[in-house]
Amino acid sequence: MNKFKSGNNKPNIGIVGATGLVGRTFLQVIQERNLEYNELFLFASEKSAGAVIEYNGKKYTVQEATPNLFENLDIALFSAGGSTSLKLAPFAAENKCIVIDNSSAWRMANAVPLVVPEVNPEAINKHKYIIANPNCSTIQLVAALKPLSDKYGLKRVVCSTYQSISGAGQKGIDKLYRELEGNLDDTKPIAYSTLFHSFDEGEDFTNEEIKMINETRKIMSLPDLPIAVTCVRVPTIGGHGESVNVELNSEFEISDVMKLIANTSGLVLMDSPARDIYPTPAIVDGTDPVYVGRIRRDDSVENGLYLWVVADNVRKGAATNAVQIAELIINEKI
Ligand SMILES: NC(=O)c1ccc[n+]([C@@H]2O[C@H](COP(=O)([O-])OP(=O)(O)OC[C@H]3O[C@@H](n4cnc5c(N)ncnc54)[C@H](OP(=O)(O)O)[C@@H]3O)[C@@H](O)[C@H]2O)c1
Repeated sequence: MNKFKSGNNKPNIGIVGATGLVGRTFLQVIQERNLEYNELFLFASEKSAGAVIEYNGKKYTVQEATPNLFENLDIALFSAGGSTSLKLAPFAAENKCIVIDNSSAWRMANAVPLVVPEVNPEAINKHKYIIANPNCSTIQLVAALKPLSDKYGLKRVVCSTYQSISGAGQKGIDKLYRELEGNLDDTKPIAYSTLFHSFDEGEDFTNEEIKMINETRKIMSLPDLPIAVTCVRVPTIGGHGESVNVELNSEFEISDVMKLIANTSGLVLMDSPARDIYPTPAIVDGTDPVYVGRIRRDDSVENGLYLWVVADNVRKGAATNAVQIAELIINEKI
């Protein structure tokens, strides 16, 4: 069956934001996972138009992303910031090109599925040509919570993040290296320090905290889930860490939780404190799973559990999750 504009069963794929940190990682992940495509097109802003990217033995010229580029595309992977997505995704949808968007622009729109393939793949069915990739910190949190929610039920979740500066894109990484070389930013250094994300006028919570709360409830279909979040940027590169404290609805044994995590697809149990084995940003850097360690009972509440959850924010938190969504679409697995 020919189901794509290409005229065969392989889609024409575009990457919008191909020169950025996530865009470049899309290319790596597509290659590693052998995602089949008919033709590939790379887009960025006017600034990078004309740049040549060599990929899989072929030279691609980056084009400026404009509204007319979707006519011939089946799937567009967006990682070019919220304003670009807001502006261009509707043109893609009009042209029956499925957008998988990494920005926060569409995540909370009712008609837009917000998808983590290990958690709510069925949500993709409802798409109207725009599918949102959740926030990087949310993806790893819900991946770890899902098996616990299914088996024991969630009563309350508390999460504090230790987020890599790579979450701020290439410019975040460049800033950290610059500062480590001695050029400390006077106003908001990240080297030897921590930062909060931005606040909207009149808000006590940062944008990132609000995103994590709302997105977790949407993805898990738990609109009333009690959840408390504090998001912090730390001077690491390679992955986000999350200290997660969960109150479950029913009793559990730590050994059963360990088995559950170890047997859940997409999760890796890394928890041997006596041997200093636990996940860190350096360990997870460049890999796709969500790693869980420091699993402990929290006796301060009924059925309380501690977890330490780490994942590469640029891969599972962005590119890999989006490519997994594309795989589900291409393979019609759902
Ligand atoms: N980094 C992460 O961990 C992470 C995780 C989840 C989601 N995200 C989201 O993914 C998106 C990209 O993040 P990033 O980390 O890859 O940022 P980045 O390294 O700064 O890259 C930004 C990309 O967007 C392109 N771009 C900027 N303005 C554009 C425009 N008007 N039209 C077309 N392309 C434009 C840039 O192209 P030029 O080369 O032309 O400037 C570049 O390719 C953001 O929405 C971010 O929130 C990032």
